[in-house]
Amino acid sequence: MFTSVRRRAWFVMLPVGLVLAIASGGRALADSKVGALVSGSKAAGIQPPQCVEPTPYMRRHHMELILHQRDMTVHEGIRGNKHSLAGCIDCHVARGDDGKAVPVNAEGQFCDSCHDYVGVSLPCFQCHATVPTPASAHK
Ligand code: HEC
Ligand code: HEC
Ligand code: HEC
Repeated sequence: MFTSVRRRAWFVMLPVGLVLAIASGGRALADSKVGALVSGSKAAGIQPPQCVEPTPYMRRHHMELILHQRDMTVHEGIRGNKHSLAGCIDCHVARGDDGKAVPVNAEGQFCDSCHDYVGVSLPCFQCHATVPTPASAHK
C-alpha cells in the first residue's frame, strides 16, 4: 500500500517539475533582451506595439502559426492570411539608413536573435526570402 502511494506521488511530481522547468525557461527568454524588436523595422514603429497575435502567444507559438499557414498555402492554395511568413518578414525586417532591408536571419536580427540563443537553426531560408520581395510588398 505504502509503496503504491509513493509511486503515484512520483508520477504526479514528475510532470509538475517538467512544467515548472519549461515555464521558467520560457520566462528567462521572455525577460532577456533577446528577441527585442529591431530598430528600423515597421514593427518597431507600431504604436501601441502589437503583433498579429498577442505577444506572449507569439513568443511561444509563432512556429505553429507559420507551419499551419504553410500547410494552408501549399496544400490548399490559401494565401495572404495574416500569419504568412512573407508578412512576418515584411513587418519585422530592419532597414538601414539607406532604406535597404537587412536579412531577418542575419546575426542579431529579429529572427536570429532568439534562435541563436536557443540553438535553433531554420532551414526555411534556403528557399524563402529573408527580405521583403516585390511579391510580398503589396500584401
Ligand atoms: C525546399 C524549399 C522550401 C523550404 C526549405 C521551405 N519552404 Fe516554405 N514554401 C516553399 C514554396 C515553394 C512555397 C510556396 C510559395 C508560395 O506559394 O508562396 C512555400 C510556402 C510557404 C508558406 C506560405 C507562404 C507564406 O509566405 O506564408 C509558409 C508559411 C512557409 N512556406 C513556411 C516555411 C517554413 C516555416 C519553413 C522552414 C521550417 C519552410 N517554409 C521551408 C518552399 C520551401
Ligand atoms: C504588422 C506588423 C507585424 C507583423 C505582420 C508581424 N509582427 Fe510580430 N510583432 C510586431 C510588433 C509591433 C511586436 C511587438 C509587440 C509588443 O511589444 O508587445 C511583435 C512581436 C513579435 C514577437 C515577440 C518578440 C519579443 O521580443 O518577444 C515574435 C516572436 C513575433 N512578433 C513573431 C512574428 C511572426 C513569426 C510573424 C509572422 C507570422 C509576425 N511576428 C508578424 C509586429 C508584427
Ligand atoms: C522571442 C524569441 C523568438 C523570436 C523573435 C523568433 N523566434 Fe522562432 N523560435 C523561438 C524559439 C524559442 C523556438 C524553438 C521552439 C522549440 O524548440 O520548440 C523557435 C522556433 C521557430 C520555428 C520552428 C523551427 C523548427 O525547426 O521547429 C520557426 C519556423 C520559427 N521559429 C520562425 C521564426 C521566424 C520566421 C522569426 C522571425 C519573423 C522568428 N521565429 C523569431 C523563438 C523566437
